[in-house]
Amino acid sequence: MSAMISIVCVLLAVSTSCMPWLACAEEEHKPQWLSSPLGMRRPQGQSNEFTVASPKEWSESSDARKKECNHEAHLCVGPSHDHYPLGHEPGVLFTARFRVPPLPKSYNSQTMTYYDYFNIFWRQQPKGGFMNQFVPQLMLGNVLANSSNYPDYEPKWLVLDEWHIGAQYFFALPCNTTSEVAPSDQNASVKRKPCWKPKAATGKLIPVKPGELVETTFTLVQVTNVDDWEWHLQMGVVGAHPNRWSLVVSRVPFMGLVKNTKWQDDNYQNVTVGSCLENYNMYVANNYPSTWQISMDVIAPAGESRRVSWDDWRLAGDEHCSWQPKTTLASVDGSSWQRVIWNATLTRSDHAQQ
Ligand SMILES: *[C@@H]1O[C@H](CO)[C@@H](O)[C@H](O)[C@H]1NC(C)=O
Ligand SMILES: *[C@@H]1O[C@H](CO)[C@@H](O)[C@H](O)[C@H]1NC(C)=O
Ligand SMILES: *[C@@H]1O[C@H](CO)[C@@H](O)[C@H](O)[C@H]1NC(C)=O
Ligand SMILES: *[C@@H]1O[C@H](CO)[C@@H](O)[C@H](O)[C@H]1NC(C)=O
Ligand SMILES: *[C@@H]1O[C@H](CO)[C@@H](O)[C@H](O)[C@H]1NC(C)=O
Repeated sequence: MSAMISIVCVLLAVSTSCMPWLACAEEEHKPQWLSSPLGMRRPQGQSNEFTVASPKEWSESSDARKKECNHEAHLCVGPSHDHYPLGHEPGVLFTARFRVPPLPKSYNSQTMTYYDYFNIFWRQQPKGGFMNQFVPQLMLGNVLANSSNYPDYEPKWLVLDEWHIGAQYFFALPCNTTSEVAPSDQNASVKRKPCWKPKAATGKLIPVKPGELVETTFTLVQVTNVDDWEWHLQMGVVGAHPNRWSLVVSRVPFMGLVKNTKWQDDNYQNVTVGSCLENYNMYVANNYPSTWQISMDVIAPAGESRRVSWDDWRLAGDEHCSWQPKTTLASVDGSSWQRVIWNATLTRSDHAQQ
């Protein structure tokens, strides 16, 4: 079970139309189980619509995937059993802090994409919705960093030459194409697959400097009465004026664009948690920031008497490119909290190259 649901992080050769690592059930009418959140926010032009592979196609492609250094080079960590059952507990707090790393020694902001973050998301998907990811993040390069927000939540890509942060809720809705196949995938030999269109709600975009301390928080808040819950996604510079904080509030899943679903539904009980360097089009060690250190806390609501069963964390997926940063993980927990520290640092020799 845990192998099946583990985040699959490092990806295949790029066929821009089909994203085989996004395995999920083929039938759109059943709640879906998402295998990986990655690959949907590529540089602009590759991301407008996408299809998902069946679990069978996914497993058939996995041998090839294991061998490849394909320049997407994502690194992710998460609990070994993937999720914690804390999504129905107003008062729960997921929080993380990191220092903004130095800019990479070498990067191209037109072609490369950096999303470096602590995130939570839900793998179980209601009918008509896909992905459901709270992903406030550190960004650089060609990135989905803005949105039209209410009412259409159209995502917008920007080219950022310096680090920025911003709160983000990323999700996808069915395409409006009659064939239900992404336009780029219209090949008679390609089977019908659900086609999805990315959507996003974004908070303020804030420039940040290397060395600044940034905090991300996710809280489930009970508003006025038991039936009224909302998630708050915040990211900002610790100790700074409130104008350097970015906020998204989600009163209903998918910002209300998927009907008949609410945060109290069973689908949202199990919260997947983790951190990623979700970077695209990296070619050498120096395309990474030299170091990434993040401290993450999961805190059950006060007054919990039961003990939460905390997992060890692990690197999800393998490192496929020899020059990727080397990582270390350490965790400590109490009955109602867990703290995890992840370091991903380039080795001196890799960093000295080129
Ligand atoms: C973000 O999108 C909004 C709405 O379309 C727009 O008004 C704003 O100027 C954009 N911000 C940036 C930094 O592009
Ligand atoms: C599909 O079209 C309908 C009607 O024009 C619109 O309300 C909806 O937002 C569209 N869906 C997407 C995913 O763009
Ligand atoms: C359609 O798919 C087949 C089989 O995958 C492939 O050989 C062919 O080149 C594709 N055609 C186009 C126009 O993409
Ligand atoms: C949450 O995940 C556990 C396995 O970790 C599973 O047994 C349980 O049924 C899931 N809960 C819901 C509401 O889907
Ligand atoms: C991460 O790096 C910091 C600063 O170098 C160090 O204090 C800490 O022990 C490291 N943690 C792990 C898990 O390697």
